[in-house]
Amino acid sequence: MRTNTGQIIHLEDYRPTDFVLERVDLTFELDPKETKVEARLIFHRREGVDAAAPLVLDGDELTMTGLLLDQEEVPTALYDVADDTLTIRGLPETAPFEITVTTLLSPETNTKLMGLYRTNNVYCTQCEAEGFRRITYFPDRPDVLAVYTVNIIAEKATAPLLLSNGNYLGGADMGDGRHFAAWFDPHPKPSYLFALVAGDLGVVEDKFTTASGREVALKIYVEHGKEPRAAYAMDALKRSMKWDEEVFGREYDLDIFMIVAVSDFNMGAMENKGLNVFNDKYVLADPETATDTDYANIEAIIAHEYFHNWTGNRITCRDWFQLCLKEGLTVYRDHEFSADMRSRAVKRIAEVRHLKSEQFPEDAGPLAHPVRPTKYREINNFYTTTVYEKGSEVTRMIATVLGRDLFKKGMDLYFDRHDGQAVTIEDFIACFEDASGRDLGQFSLWYHQAGTPLITASGSYDAAKQSYTLSLEQTVPATPGQSAKKPMHIPLRVGLLLEDGSEAKPATVSGADVMADVVHLTERRQTVVFSGVPSRPVPSFNRGFSAPINLHIEQSAEDRALIARHEIDLFARWQALNAMALDNLAKAAVQARSGQPIACDEALIGGLLAAAGDERLEPAFRAQVLSLPSEADIAREIGRDNDPDAIQSGRQAILSAIAASGKDIFTRLLGEMTLSGPFRPDAASAGRRALRNAALSYLVYGDDRPEKAVSAFRSANNMTDLSQALTLLAHRFPDAEETLDALATFKKRFADNALVIDKWFAIQATIPGASTLERVKALMSDPHFNPSNPNRVRSLVGTFAFSNPTGFNRADGEGYRFLARQILEIDPRNPQLAARILTSMRSWRSLEQVRANHAQEALKEIAGAANLSADVSDIVDRMLS
Ligand code: ARG
Ligand code: ZN
Repeated sequence: MRTNTGQIIHLEDYRPTDFVLERVDLTFELDPKETKVEARLIFHRREGVDAAAPLVLDGDELTMTGLLLDQEEVPTALYDVADDTLTIRGLPETAPFEITVTTLLSPETNTKLMGLYRTNNVYCTQCEAEGFRRITYFPDRPDVLAVYTVNIIAEKATAPLLLSNGNYLGGADMGDGRHFAAWFDPHPKPSYLFALVAGDLGVVEDKFTTASGREVALKIYVEHGKEPRAAYAMDALKRSMKWDEEVFGREYDLDIFMIVAVSDFNMGAMENKGLNVFNDKYVLADPETATDTDYANIEAIIAHEYFHNWTGNRITCRDWFQLCLKEGLTVYRDHEFSADMRSRAVKRIAEVRHLKSEQFPEDAGPLAHPVRPTKYREINNFYTTTVYEKGSEVTRMIATVLGRDLFKKGMDLYFDRHDGQAVTIEDFIACFEDASGRDLGQFSLWYHQAGTPLITASGSYDAAKQSYTLSLEQTVPATPGQSAKKPMHIPLRVGLLLEDGSEAKPATVSGADVMADVVHLTERRQTVVFSGVPSRPVPSFNRGFSAPINLHIEQSAEDRALIARHEIDLFARWQALNAMALDNLAKAAVQARSGQPIACDEALIGGLLAAAGDERLEPAFRAQVLSLPSEADIAREIGRDNDPDAIQSGRQAILSAIAASGKDIFTRLLGEMTLSGPFRPDAASAGRRALRNAALSYLVYGDDRPEKAVSAFRSANNMTDLSQALTLLAHRFPDAEETLDALATFKKRFADNALVIDKWFAIQATIPGASTLERVKALMSDPHFNPSNPNRVRSLVGTFAFSNPTGFNRADGEGYRFLARQILEIDPRNPQLAARILTSMRSWRSLEQVRANHAQEALKEIAGAANLSADVSDIVDRMLS
């Protein structure tokens, strides 16, 4: 039973609009309950289009109070208003004409946070992907580019600040308690990049001089009193602007660049032209309230949205199937930026951890889809880790395949050729083909075939011939709607390490194209022979994670330890230790499930502790080594019939074994990795904190008493250390007096900071074990919880479902039933948020039977509910099919 199932949209149905939009003139008379929007749109009929063809505009939940054609009322016989369209007939055959639409909106009751809404008394918009149609009737699609003028009228007292895209034209007092401001954006843009913000906000100002000497005013708007917490974001912005000039040759193109932080926002941030709107979580930071991870996220997201100015805004998408054109590319750009700002190897490890824990499960489950999909029901459900993160990996592979210089040449050609256009992935790839003379036809399958390729490898050494033979087979698993797959072009970086840790330099290689250490796999099965290899080598596959694949290879712990000690590629060192840990953790889960004793491999302990104590390695890297694969990682490794409780107890046993063996090293690190002087958020300081906290964590898990965690909690002088200590207390000693005290102290101290209270919710939502569900339910009645704020809902309900395997996947199915009820409650208010949180169940089929049955029932309960949004029904239907 549903009312809003959504039509399926197909890429093959794309065709340009019948009418060309020339310009847009918008006037907003802002009012919380009744905002009046007058849109004046100048169109002309596209050449060759039938003279009788009507103009069809998109709309969503609009009240129209006026419709004029060239300033004359349109007779009712000449237009139709349906649920989501406005159709106008009898329009001029060739001459341009002006349509004036007047609509009334209620920003205050707009709980979907799409279109124009209110957040903390601020008017704010979110138009990507299809929010502009909630403001006025409009050709709301990314291939309709126009120049906008925006006039904003509002009460002066409550909205002294009136902002929109582009450059400020002027404004004045209107004498009746209201004032107005006018903005003009000279760059043609699609409607999804429109933004308006009005309210009373504080500002942090700075300026940036571009490479060609133009001065740009920089402004970050935040709630009054929070200005000091925007300093890091401003610094990150200036570094982003400079980096984009230096690395991609891209200069900013308006007189002003603005960022507004709001506390009610569905996603991370939005790249509206000249006026980015951010979830305040990704702007506000100071040492007392933000962790090192928060700082790193702010830097990355500020950069991401800024980089969109060229990859997304100046060159945009022809249609929403091309979303990865801007998102995959822009994520790649922000990854490279962070790698340059921080440690490249550590950044890469973090990226791969994220990719494997979020994108790999998506690609292996019912929601799998290609990076460039060919159909969708609800576009908001395609802002996925596949489009973003796998899309970034595919861009990175283009750079690997072509090499740095040709990649740069291709990017330059792209900017040159397509500036001002709305284009496709095919256009993007053609730039690299034209710049390099290479054929990227087979490579393009990365955009079209879903599923994570699996490479199965085995090697044999022939001492007599001094040759090493690698047999490689690639398979791409079946995914929804794609059963048979073609072999892909996989650029696999491989090193051959000799016994002494040095790298073999083969005389010749046959069986595959090899450039430097990149082996180009293009066939289902390939045998690659390296000659002139003096002794049996240990292969180190997928250096730098050159391809987003799963690798199956039998490799001994000793061989992995050799890689971990000697690889020149630091990422590969981490990868070897991680693979070793994962093997052991998967075995431990099986042992735990069948009640056998759990064995921790000495080679694993040795490898981890050797890296942890190796002073030649940077602390951040050592911390990454010590951070064991998560329970979700282990579940993915096992693949099917998963029992989260067994995974957890197996992991716990391994952790304790490492803690016991490493006690001395961890105690030493705790003392060595202290920092003196004022807090600094830079990567080196963050690395020392990370290593110290990793050591502390093992020490706390190796001890029955909470003292060490309590003292860390008491002595912490920054949020990284404080939240880590609180997490250790809560997760290791959930019911101890000391933990209750610490939770209360923390809450009291940060009661007026919602973003910190989110951490307080998340820490408690991730306490392992079945009883956390009751805790989560109780926390929902906490006065700080607010079911209509997305950050609160994500930190409590979302964190529980996504990040608490034993608590959420209770064997009795109560976790799933709880989530189902939450989804049905959130959905009518905010479908996007509901659909997003529901994806936490995407791997339900890999659970053991009892849990899988409960999960399926909960999903069916959702699917059977009345009045589901298109967002939720799309997700739930795909998960059940
Ligand atoms: N384009 C934004 C970004 O930087 C994401 C906006 C997504 N919003 C949405 N409602 N789907 O990645
Ligand atoms: Zn983006």
